[in-house]
Amino acid sequence: MTQTLADMRRDYTRDGLTEAQAPTDPFILFGQWFEEAVRTEQPPVEANAMVLATVDAEQQPHCRVLLLKGVDSHGFVFYTNYESAKGQQIAVQPKAAMTFFWPTLERQVRIEGTIEQVSAEESDAYYRVRPLGSRLGAWASPQSRVITGREELEARVAEIQTRFARQEEPPRPPHWGGYRLVPHRIEFWQGRSSRLHDRLDYQRDGEGWRRQRLAP
Ligand SMILES: Cc1cc2nc3c(=O)[nH]c(=O)nc-3n(C[C@H](O)[C@H](O)[C@H](O)COP(=O)(O)O)c2cc1C
Repeated sequence: MTQTLADMRRDYTRDGLTEAQAPTDPFILFGQWFEEAVRTEQPPVEANAMVLATVDAEQQPHCRVLLLKGVDSHGFVFYTNYESAKGQQIAVQPKAAMTFFWPTLERQVRIEGTIEQVSAEESDAYYRVRPLGSRLGAWASPQSRVITGREELEARVAEIQTRFARQEEPPRPPHWGGYRLVPHRIEFWQGRSSRLHDRLDYQRDGEGWRRQRLAP
């Protein structure tokens, strides 16, 4: 039976989010929710998949799915090609928003802030632990550029394989590395019954965070 869009209604009843249970530091709450998502979300959902939004010079927003590769007390780290469309957008406007959706847990986290490149040492360290194919792919793919066909990509991979055939450890391409989203706002959304969801919004306030509840 085909479900129509009008039929697609789910009531969220799994959990709640109260001020009493939520830590005053949103990074702690993110850590708790992320750990739970890793434990609970079933493949093929990747708990570290998120949508990253950036804007270009004309204020046109762009968003795409990326994988979170690190989180620390400064922010949320992902890796990509610095010359990609998103890299160029970030160079012009170093602001971004990141959204996680964990459907089994009926949760969403929205993060907004400024973007900075991670240090070369941090990017090197992550590049080194990637599978060889991904390391070579980072050299071979001119991410976001128009290519003539799949063959061009495969030819570029073959050329890179030859170039680095004698090197056990290909170096990190200078155009590939990490960005950190340093948040000034983190919102936690827990689905509740009858669309009366819980939303706790943390806004950076000096060294700490100010928290408020938003209407669903
Ligand atoms: C599940 C999933 C994970 C992805 N992870 C990454 C990633 O970590 N880094 C990346 O550059 N692109 C990743 N992509 C591809 C991006 O969505 C996007 O196509 C690419 O980064 C080019 O985006 P841009 O042209 O806006 O720069 C992923 C796509 C999917 C569907």
